[in-house]
Amino acid sequence: MLDYKKEKLLLKASNINLKYDTRQILRDVNFEIFNVTRPDVIQGQVISLIGRSGIGKTQLFKILSGLIQPTSGTVLIGEEQRPVVAGEVGVIPQNYILFKHRTIYNNLKIGLANSGRKLSENEAKDIIEDHAKQFDLQDHLKKFPAQLSGGQRQRVSILQQVLTGNKFILLDEPFSGLDPIVKDKVDELLMKVSHLNEENTLIIVSHDIINTLALSDTAFILAQEPGKEGATITEVVDLMAMGYAWRPGIKADHTFLDLVLNIKSKL
Ligand SMILES: Nc1ncnc2c1ncn2[C@@H]1O[C@H](COP(=O)(O)OP(=O)(O)O)[C@@H](O)[C@H]1O
Ligand SMILES: [Mg+2]
Repeated sequence: MLDYKKEKLLLKASNINLKYDTRQILRDVNFEIFNVTRPDVIQGQVISLIGRSGIGKTQLFKILSGLIQPTSGTVLIGEEQRPVVAGEVGVIPQNYILFKHRTIYNNLKIGLANSGRKLSENEAKDIIEDHAKQFDLQDHLKKFPAQLSGGQRQRVSILQQVLTGNKFILLDEPFSGLDPIVKDKVDELLMKVSHLNEENTLIIVSHDIINTLALSDTAFILAQEPGKEGATITEVVDLMAMGYAWRPGIKADHTFLDLVLNIKSKL
């Protein structure tokens, strides 16, 4: 059995409803994220919201990051449980937008500047170069975004958010458009981000069940209930209790693959 404890509440989404005109997109979405601690391991949380295309994941992503307001309901974050405000959570949208006329170094510098830390030019340079090495971007700092592959741009975008110091980082479909080998690298990278700080919380919104579940400690399934309009959380998958969390290579475990198939059948 895995040794872990669920401690204080980090995020609470309550009764979230979203309507566009009369069309209900999200209905009574409720979930909570707790700080999970493990003895002798510094590790944050990795939560996923899984659902089929078109179900409302990106809308929920925007609500969780404070970019749009729900029709009703609240998202409270942090120990103080205050309403989320745009800019307080790191956001990695599906098309990872970078400043295209700035070098990778300068894109990363913008992330660091947003952390509000007072740093000299040299201190900033050390931090950026050190992180670039950890994220395998050291050879690309002088390039412009258009000169990088999709996977590399995504790493820059993730690192940019890490450098802001935001504890919550939301990712919309981080596996889409990547080939299987690069997907495995994204796994590794996100685990690395998670290990940087005990309270780092990654929230992954995705329809890629296997890659997302393999990384997560908890997954919320977003689906429609029969006869009801709008998507809601229909199931909570506690991968810690099931013994699947924090296990590299879990994608090859056949009982885990059964779980993936089972979830697929319910989307
Ligand atoms: N601004 C909008 N006005 C009206 N409907 C919208 C708007 N944005 C998204 N939708 C609808 O909300 C639904 C959910 O979209 P989305 O959250 O992007 O799905 P997913 O990310 O799960 O693929 C879709 O049917 C989409 O057409
Ligand atoms: Mg989407």
